[in-house]
Amino acid sequence: MSEPILEVEGLVKHYPLTRGVVFRKQVGAVRAVDGVDFHLGRGETLGIVGESGCGKSTVAKTLVNLERPTAGSIRYKGEDITRLSGKALKSVRRNIQMVFQDPYTSLNPRMTVGDIIGEPYDIHPEVAPKGDRRRKVQDLLDVVGLNPEYINRYPHQFSGGQRQRIGIARGLALRPEIIVADEPVSALDVSVQAQVINLMDRLQSEFDLAYIFIAHDLSIVRHISDRVAVMYLGRIVETGRDAEIYDHPTHPYTQALLSAVPVPDPEAREHRERIILSGDVPSPTNIPSGCRFRTRCWKAQERCALEVPALAVPAWFEAAGGPAAHDSACHFAATVPIRRSAPGQVVPPEERPGGTV
Ligand SMILES: Nc1ncnc2c1ncn2[C@@H]1O[C@H](COP(=O)(O)OP(=O)(O)O)[C@@H](O)[C@H]1O
Ligand SMILES: [Mg+2]
Repeated sequence: MSEPILEVEGLVKHYPLTRGVVFRKQVGAVRAVDGVDFHLGRGETLGIVGESGCGKSTVAKTLVNLERPTAGSIRYKGEDITRLSGKALKSVRRNIQMVFQDPYTSLNPRMTVGDIIGEPYDIHPEVAPKGDRRRKVQDLLDVVGLNPEYINRYPHQFSGGQRQRIGIARGLALRPEIIVADEPVSALDVSVQAQVINLMDRLQSEFDLAYIFIAHDLSIVRHISDRVAVMYLGRIVETGRDAEIYDHPTHPYTQALLSAVPVPDPEAREHRERIILSGDVPSPTNIPSGCRFRTRCWKAQERCALEVPALAVPAWFEAAGGPAAHDSACHFAATVPIRRSAPGQVVPPEERPGGTV
């Protein structure tokens, strides 16, 4: 692996839950992010995936300093950025930029595209002196595939995909090393999603960028990610290289997510288990003891309520060796029942999950 430029350790973000108007009394906490570790290599893409509400945006916001973590460290090139302030913080922030989910609401409707893309230069004038700005913004428009002559137009004059290109151009303005893209294509039509992902792919090599690419659907991050982290209720439950996660998922939650991904090949579709999870995601104010996924898991046993499973390579997987071994936070991690790579093979009924259709 390339040397990590970002190392996140024990990241926690709890929002206090208060009652009362005058004497605000803390009655609990929303445990939005509840102990997350990951790293990002130079020029690498880490996909972060999970259902709505599992804490993805909160992770993203702590990385770009829009939220202060409750605990944990975020090291950029070895330095903990949660402890920085002033000039040092400003220079780090320049290098870690965010692209937001919804291009319809994240662009100020009263600003021209030129002002939107050039706004980061107000904070960092050293990157683009006043006289140089217009040309720099036009270059950025060109780089993201928009006509540089559109510089004086307003956001409403663009389509959703074009607006997200504007958001990306703005993210590139300060020539960052890392872009945190929070569901950058979720608000776009399916037909446009691939174009924006392809653009981001191209920009990555052109500008030597590392991406944190967030999505709620595993199929979206598949093509762009080198590694994937699957989140559930504020934690990473499984993480590994792209092929390890997609072809050998061992956490029941990842298996359920993958079973919902559309498969184009009809034969593979026919032979695939479809896992329907029972119940809803528990509230982050009231997280189940032990394994937080156990209330929806068909494999859950007594141990799961008592012991928090560590995110680690399962012992049997380690013993078996091979390139597919990767971290999974499950006491009963196993590679069944997803058989994406061998659709003809039949899993014995006793190994089938209870929720199978
Ligand atoms: N400012 C906040 N105050 C209280 N709770 C919050 C705040 N921001 C997010 N949350 C809660 O934290 C949890 C995780 O939210 P979020 O990070 O937005 O998830 P995701 O991006 O995966 O959908 C949710 O339950 C959400 O309601
Ligand atoms: Mg979100």
